[in-house]
This record gives sequence, C-alpha cells and structure tokens, in this order.
Amino acid sequence: MGGRTGRPRGKRVPRLTGTAPRGAPDATELQKGLVLLSAAQPLDVQPTPLALLLLGREADPRSERGVECPGDLPAPSDPDLVARARAAKEKLGDRVFVLGHHYQRDEVIEFADVTGDSFKLARDAAARPEAEYIVFCGVHFMAESADILTSAQQRVVLPDLAAGCSMADMATAEQVAECWDVLTEAGIAGTTVPVSYMNSSADIKAFTGRHGGTICTSSNAKRALEWAFGQGEKVLFLPDQHLGRNTAVRDMGMTLDDCVVYNPHKPNGGLTPQQLRDARMILWRGHCSVHGRFSLDSVREVRERIPGVNVLVHPECKHEVVGAADQVGSTEYIIKALEAAPAGSKWAIGTELNLVRRLANRFAAEDKEIVFLDRTVCFCSTMNRIDLPHLVWALESLADGTVVNRIEVDAETEKFAKLALERMLALP
Ligand code: 13P
Ligand code: SF4
Repeated sequence: MGGRTGRPRGKRVPRLTGTAPRGAPDATELQKGLVLLSAAQPLDVQPTPLALLLLGREADPRSERGVECPGDLPAPSDPDLVARARAAKEKLGDRVFVLGHHYQRDEVIEFADVTGDSFKLARDAAARPEAEYIVFCGVHFMAESADILTSAQQRVVLPDLAAGCSMADMATAEQVAECWDVLTEAGIAGTTVPVSYMNSSADIKAFTGRHGGTICTSSNAKRALEWAFGQGEKVLFLPDQHLGRNTAVRDMGMTLDDCVVYNPHKPNGGLTPQQLRDARMILWRGHCSVHGRFSLDSVREVRERIPGVNVLVHPECKHEVVGAADQVGSTEYIIKALEAAPAGSKWAIGTELNLVRRLANRFAAEDKEIVFLDRTVCFCSTMNRIDLPHLVWALESLADGTVVNRIEVDAETEKFAKLALERMLALP
C-alpha cells in the first residue's frame, strides 16, 4: 500500500475524542459554555471563543501525536484576522480556490468559494483545473480526494494537518488487507465487491479501486450499492457500519440478518466462515463519533418537547435513530429539505452542530424553527480544527509563494484510488 504525504509518515492524524488538549478548559467549563439547545433556547452556541482555537498551535503528545503546525500562526485574538484573510485571498485571486465543507465554522465558511457535502466538493475540486492552489477547509480524507481528482500541477492545502477524521482512522490499510485474506480463506473474495465511504484514507480508496469496487458518499450510497450488487454477490462496506446498514436495510430492502459486522480487532473479524458466506453485506466496524452520539432517547425527547416536529438525520446515525426519524439524508439533502420546508414548520436535525446552528439562523427569518436533535455538544472536533488563524496562515503563506501543509497522495495510491473515485463519479 502506498503512503501519503501531508502528515508525518508513520504518524496518524489523531483520534481526539475524550482527550483534552493542552490549555483547553476542563469538562465543567466546557459544559458551562456549551450547555445546549432546546426549544426554549435559541441556537446561539458560539464555537469561536473556545479553546479549540488554540488547538494545532503546538504539539500535544497525548492528543496530537506528532502533528505540529509549522510556522507562526496569527493569534486567535488578532482583531485583523478577517482583513488579513481578505487581503491574502485578493492577492491570490483566481490562483486559489477555497472549498468549505458544511461542518466548518462560520468564520471559515465566510471565505469559501464553494460550500458543499463531500460529494459536491470532490466534484467542485475536479472542475477547477485553472486554480493553482486548492485550500480545503474540511478534513484530511477530503483533501486527499481533492488531490487525487485534480491535476499534478495543482497543489492541495489543508490549513491544519490535525484535521483528521476518527471514522476514517478506524480502517487502516493493514487491517483491510487482513480482512480481504479472511474473505479469501472463506472462499468469497471473488464474489465480494468493496464499497468504501468517501470518509476513508487514500489507501483504503486504492484498495477499493484495486479490487473492482467504488467509493460512495452519503448522497449516492444507494446507487453505489445497486451498482456493486450488479458486479458481485456481496459487498464489503468500509468504514461506516451505520451508513452501510442504513442504506442496505432502509433503501435496498435487505434485512438486518443480511448484514454482519467485521471487527478488525478480533481474529477473523469475529466471524465464522459460514457467517461470512451467508451475509450479503459485510459491514466494517467503524462509525462517526459525532453522529454516533444521537440516540433513540434524543428522538423521543424532542418529539415530546416540540409537538409536530420533523426529525431529519444524517445516515451516519445509528440504525434505530434513522428508523425513528421522519427523513434521512446527507448534508446537502438536509439543506435542500429545509429550503423546501413551509413557513411555520419545526425541525430537529441530527447532524454536526456548526451546520445546524447556521441553518437555524438562516431560516429563522422564514419562520422555520430548527433545533439540534440532542442536548449535548456535537461539534466535530477535527472539522473545528480549521479556524481563522490557520486559514490566514495558509493563505498568507501561499500569497508569499510558500506552499504549506500540502496534501499529496503518491502516484501508485492515486492511480487506484482515482479508479474507485471515477467509478463513483460515473454512477448513474
Ligand atoms: P457528507 O458531507 O457526505 O454529508 O458527510 C458528512 C460527514 O460526516 C463528512 O465528514
Ligand atoms: Fe469524521 Fe464524523 Fe467528523 Fe465527518 S463528522 S469528519 S465522519 S468524525
């Protein structure tokens, strides 16, 4: 398997859940600052002043594992940050194209030339051959995909290398190769098609391309599975078990008994050869640490609290949450559903908090009440790593002729990952 650049070799972008960064407030302080949203409380959480702004300025041996931000970042309190970002962007002109995922902070989204879900952003990056620099305000796997889909001359920059994804980190190249050996021994590798969620490393995408599979996103997972079942009898779905299960059972008419969960931390995935042979969907045991926090109780509670509320959740949520929701869809779907919603309607949204907060503010003027599905904090901590100081630093460095935090996938990995991504882009 090939390696990646953009993060130190052999060192992984961290899983940050549960680890307090140096200088961060303690849990009580955080709770005080972020006690959340209910119908009575407007969506007024302000992520910016929190210590997350401090993350990435230095290395924290417990949480960052060697991911140190090179260079001199502007202070988060610098009152000129907005003006500096504007000036650097203006100086770069059409040479730079800034992409912003929907989960990014408001202060970052303000400087995005386009915003979107991971599928739209992959397409937008590919459709911009004239931009010398692509600054990706999102997470590592998204920047890798942008590098794979853009030309060799274009440079992709991730403003903070610590912006990883805990879900993508749940499937490593070694674990997936071992899984394929297990499937081979069970005599089913020849009839199994890998389908990997966009939220995976370039190595996993390359594995998928090499073995005749496709990438999918939360907007096209059903089409990807339909395609895959036209190629083989079984699907190995990586790395998000929930998106795989929800799509198979909710959208494709399979049953829970058609699915098994492969646990990379157990011998043979914790499954017998017969269980593997009987399954149609082999789900990798990975999940999103943000969407995994929504529960059936959150749905029950919000329905009691807000009579007539529509519950709309992302398909990375658990199966029982998706089953209890009124609608399910990707971030782009969620935005479109709210745009089309009638005035006076009420919505509880189960996805990342930056997006929900922005939508609540945007649609308040149209008399649409939008609340966060759960009462506990649900920012994606790694998405939040990209903040204004890092963006200013990246843009100013580019304007001065220095490419910082470049994400570059090696040629061999890129070749097969691109194959898998292009299969996705060609899906009907
Ligand atoms: P989409 O942007 O595809 O909806 O995915 C959500 C997500 O978790 C991205 O990290
Ligand atoms: Fe990864 Fe979940 Fe954050 Fe998306 S929201 S980047 S899947 S941890």
